[in-house]
Amino acid sequence: MRNRRAGLGLIAGVASLALAMCGCDAGSSSSTEGETIGIAMPTQASPRWITDGNSVVKDLKADGYKTKLVYGDDDPQTQVSQIQDLIAKHVSALIIAAIDNKSLNGVLQQAFDAKIPVISYDRLILGTKHVDYYASFDNDQVGRLEARYIVEKLGLEDGKGPFNIELFAGSPDDNNTKYFFEGAMHLLQPYFDSKQLVVRSGQTALNQVTTLRWDGPTAKKRMAHLLATSYKTSTVDAVLSPYDGMSIGILEALKAEGYGSAARSLPVITGQDAELASVKSIIAGEQAQTVYKDTRELADVAATMVNNILTHQQVRVNDTRTYDNGVKPVPAYLLQPKSVDKKNYEIALVATGYYTDRDLK
Ligand code: GAL
Repeated sequence: MRNRRAGLGLIAGVASLALAMCGCDAGSSSSTEGETIGIAMPTQASPRWITDGNSVVKDLKADGYKTKLVYGDDDPQTQVSQIQDLIAKHVSALIIAAIDNKSLNGVLQQAFDAKIPVISYDRLILGTKHVDYYASFDNDQVGRLEARYIVEKLGLEDGKGPFNIELFAGSPDDNNTKYFFEGAMHLLQPYFDSKQLVVRSGQTALNQVTTLRWDGPTAKKRMAHLLATSYKTSTVDAVLSPYDGMSIGILEALKAEGYGSAARSLPVITGQDAELASVKSIIAGEQAQTVYKDTRELADVAATMVNNILTHQQVRVNDTRTYDNGVKPVPAYLLQPKSVDKKNYEIALVATGYYTDRDLK
């Protein structure tokens, strides 16, 4: 196992500030024996959350905790009930990847009343002061990596174009969505201005391009509609997709219209999460890129936060400003994402043990 504590890279000043900000009551004992941690994940429909859940459980068990892991079927109300249930079972801390970032205010008040500290996992929970820490990736950077890939592949810096691009964003109730989209738009905007990039559908505002619950079939449907309405006489050269499950749906719609053949090559399609189906697609030359976020590291950060709170140690954070949830800036530890394509997947994903060669066959 990796050296979990060493991996976090303490920034001392910021860390102590965060410790002072945490209002959590970790009880009087510093023994973790027999304590149970509740973990609420959003869905099993996407393999990444299964890996997240398993990794968090493994890390907490290594620290001597028991765990209760639940999945909310992408239904906010189910998740609220599950968290209520975890509170009723007297868990010592909660790690929550929210389905709908605003649906948890009531239940987190109950957690606070029961003196249960809360870690917001990957997705920031909004509108409540009862979230103690945030463990995530640099979400703005995720969007930038996707956009940079498109910029480089199309040769936009060399003045090439015009190219047609369509934009997709994630679920409107996920706080990450706007970070991914705005991060990407920051790099793409100059090329819209120079007309090297053209969005033929005209759909460039975030609220026109979101995809409820990051659903692949929903993205597929929208792509099919875009092709039928805006690309009767032209082709699409790039698609900004913020999540692999959507990228696969988008690819299906494109292939159904003859893209990916000798006559019509596939557009540059981005993604996120390095999910197995997408990595295979990248190797096969279909999806162009994904953003790899090592969920083992994220799990490690969250489990370490819990353990530090419950054993009265400093909680390590490296950002105390960026993630304001509308009530307070939530002290965060942000990991760095990595752009992966056909050229570097072996180094990024196989050499690091995220996948084996056999997984990718
Ligand atoms: C986001 C997450 C992404 C992706 C997406 C769909 O919140 O940051 O990595 O997993 O959900 O599950």
